[in-house]
Amino acid sequence: MVRKTLIAGNWKMNCLTQEGTQLAKEIAAKVKAEKFDCEFLICPPFTLLATIKKCLRGTKIALGAQDVHFAEKGAHTGDISPLMLTDLGCKYTIIGHSERRVDHQESNELINQKAVAAHKAGLNTVICIGETLEERENGRTIQVCQNEIFGSVPDDATAKNTVIAYEPIWAIGTGKTPTVADVQEVHSAVRKALAKKLGKSTADKMRILYGGSVKPSNAKELLALPDVDGALIGGASLKADDFIAIAQNAPK
Ligand code: PGA
Repeated sequence: MVRKTLIAGNWKMNCLTQEGTQLAKEIAAKVKAEKFDCEFLICPPFTLLATIKKCLRGTKIALGAQDVHFAEKGAHTGDISPLMLTDLGCKYTIIGHSERRVDHQESNELINQKAVAAHKAGLNTVICIGETLEERENGRTIQVCQNEIFGSVPDDATAKNTVIAYEPIWAIGTGKTPTVADVQEVHSAVRKALAKKLGKSTADKMRILYGGSVKPSNAKELLALPDVDGALIGGASLKADDFIAIAQNAPK
């Protein structure tokens, strides 16, 4: 069972053309200059997808979006369809990030629908789950994460088309992280929920990323955990040196 480490950058609503181009070019040059065993993914805002695609040409860095609509096309003002993303060269899209679950009231059902549509169009999904601080303090972390797996991950999910990202909401952008023991406990419980839903063989092969204040200084211990198969990185993905330093800490 080989789960290749995935180092994914979520740029969120950051970067105009010049800044984004410079960042992507810097990351591309550094990835080319070294031999990495891991896979790379960069998810800029929609407005920069076409520009960043050009900057990544000739590298092994995949391009991804941060959200997608479930419909193929039609009357959905302001939305972006799965085929629009593949048309731009996207291989992945993030779905169900907590910022979308909270800011846009996205439900497990909606996220599930988006994932089905994305997979149908040939896009891989990074499906995000994670508990609030209140849920953690009330001892509900495992239950919340397992429920999000059962609700958000579609029946057609495979180890190829789906990556899970566990992101405790209280750890995102705060500099706080759970203990490594807590991270491993949740990842292992998530894998058990995936086994229940999709079968053990799929669950054993599916990558589960950790996200939430990942930085060069904590990457090594997080990425070394047996059920952590990579990282989804927000803030630190906006600095080429930090993003690369995290990848350098991936287990060989
Ligand atoms: P962060 O964000 O690394 O800035 O905490 C992670 C994420 O929200 O994907």
